[in-house]
Formats: sequence, C-alpha cells, structure tokens
Amino acid sequence: MTISKSLPPRTDLMRWDEEADEPYILLPSHPDLRLTPWRETDVDDAMKLYNDPSIAKYSFRRPYPYRKEDFGFLRNVVLPPATETISTVLRPLLAPPAQPTHPLPSPSSDSPLPFFPFIIIRHHPSGRMIGDMAIFQPMRSDVSAADAKAAFGGKAKTSQTAAEQTWEMAYNLMPEWTGKGIGGRVLDCVLEVWVKWVGIGTMMAGAETANVNSSALVKSRGFVKVRTFIQEWPEDKGGGEREISHWELKMADHISRLGPAKS
Ligand SMILES: CC(C)(COP(=O)(O)OP(=O)(O)OC[C@H]1O[C@@H](n2cnc3c(N)ncnc32)[C@H](O)[C@@H]1OP(=O)(O)O)[C@@H](O)C(=O)NCCC(=O)NCCS
Repeated sequence: MTISKSLPPRTDLMRWDEEADEPYILLPSHPDLRLTPWRETDVDDAMKLYNDPSIAKYSFRRPYPYRKEDFGFLRNVVLPPATETISTVLRPLLAPPAQPTHPLPSPSSDSPLPFFPFIIIRHHPSGRMIGDMAIFQPMRSDVSAADAKAAFGGKAKTSQTAAEQTWEMAYNLMPEWTGKGIGGRVLDCVLEVWVKWVGIGTMMAGAETANVNSSALVKSRGFVKVRTFIQEWPEDKGGGEREISHWELKMADHISRLGPAKS
C-alpha cells in the first residue's frame, strides 16, 4: 500500500456517466461499486435500508419506522444543494465536451463549500442502492429543527475557511454488504477524492461506542476518538441512554491509502 500524506486529490476517480447523465466516484478496489447521486428509483432500497432494525437502531435522528413521507427531508433539504453542486460545479468540469485534466482545479474559495452529492453507494450495472454516505455540517443534538436543516443541507453560516471547517459524515450499508471491506474503501474514496479536493480541514463521525463496526471503520482510517458522552436515545429506537463517541480526522494527518493517480 502506498503511504503518503501529500498526494494530490484523486479527482481522476470522479467521472461522468453519460447514460445516467450524472457524476459518480469510482471505487478502484470494487469496479462493480460506485458512489452516485440519489435517483428517484432508490426509494424502495432506501426504505429497506432505513427500516432494517440492525441499521435503524444506530440512527439518532432518522425516523423509525421510516415511511415514504419521510423522504420529504431528503427531497427538501439534501437534494437541492446536491443538485446545485452537480449543475454548477461538476457538470462543467466532467460532462462532455469537458476534457478534465487531473487533479481538477479546487472549487472557488469565494463561495460556500460545494455540498457532497455522492450520497448513494450503488452496485453497477444493476443500479441497486447498497448503502449511503452523507457529509454535512456538524451540530449538537439539541439544536432547533431549522438549524439542523441548515447544517444537513450544508447551509449553516460560517466565516471559516474550508481548512478551518469540520464536517461530519454518516454511513450505512445493507447487512449483506457489511464486513467485506466495502465501508473502508468507500471512506478512502470520500476522503481522497472529495474531502481533499474541496479542502475540508477536519472530518468527524459520531458513533455509539458499542457499535463495533462503525468504530473499527473510522479507527482503521486514522480517526482519533476525541470525546465520549451519554445521549438519551429516542424511544422508537430502543430508548434509554447510550454512550456516543466522537471521532476526528485532521486531513493534515490523513495518510493516503489509494496512492497516486496513474497517468
Ligand atoms: C459501519 C459500516 C458502514 C462499516 O462498513 P463495513 O464495510 O462493514 O466495514 P469494513 O469491512 O470496510 O471494515 C472497516 C475496517 O474496520 C475493520 N473492522 C471491521 N469490523 C471490525 C471488527 N468487528 N473488529 C475489528 N476490526 C473491524 C476492518 O478490518 C476494516 O479495516 P481494513 O480495511 O484496514 O481491513 C457497516 O458495518 C454498517 O453499515 N453497519 C450498520 C449501520 C451502521 O452502523 N452505521 C453507522 C452508524 S454510526
């Protein structure tokens, strides 16, 4: 494995799918998997994912059971900024007749950070959704619904530069796809393609301390546990109190696991 801290972002893994007319991130380790934007045909797979008790129990905010009307949050809060990133930032750089030269120029530092649009882990060519990956601005558990919406849509006001900012991530895989090294490879790509490219300084993840897989995932990628606290847990997901761990990765300390782009 190549180990280097100073490699440029792997923007060569960010491509344009002409048939689906959308950008995607290729997983070099798994040619049959991609990170892509949401598609309306994902509703049934997403319902299956979010209603699996082994996944639902770890989510503090997502409703359970998850109903079709709950997609309103995705459609109103997450998809508009994702679509904006695709049309204003990615399409001009990646879609024909663009001829990308890598690494791609970093997004402008004069405007807010582009919102991460590659929220679906998708099997290719079947198109089936096998998991999700979100990146958003972190928030405390007691913030107002309006502030939570702003943060989930990447619209929380900040005067910090990208390098000074911390963004949070959340991820899930269908049970039949877990424990096979996929979560780790997805995380490698998210860090080395997107996070490095847009210049976010620190990534964080919150996971129940008892969630062995999630803790092992972030630890394996160099995240450091920065604090633990007790959280009252929603009744629909088992109630009681849970210990939560916050993990952080300073991108300056990030070690590349994908290696340099091949020319
Ligand atoms: C959390 C989750 C996304 C992790 O994805 P995954 O594909 O199962 O994880 P991986 O198999 O890639 O494992 C990641 C790393 O952790 C290590 N690891 C995984 N499980 C481990 C365990 N039980 N003990 C020790 N190490 C473990 C792996 O060795 C791997 O490291 P490597 O790539 O260097 O070999 C997935 O298990 C999941 O979706 N779980 C249910 C939902 C959930 O918990 N979501 C997160 C809520 S905070």
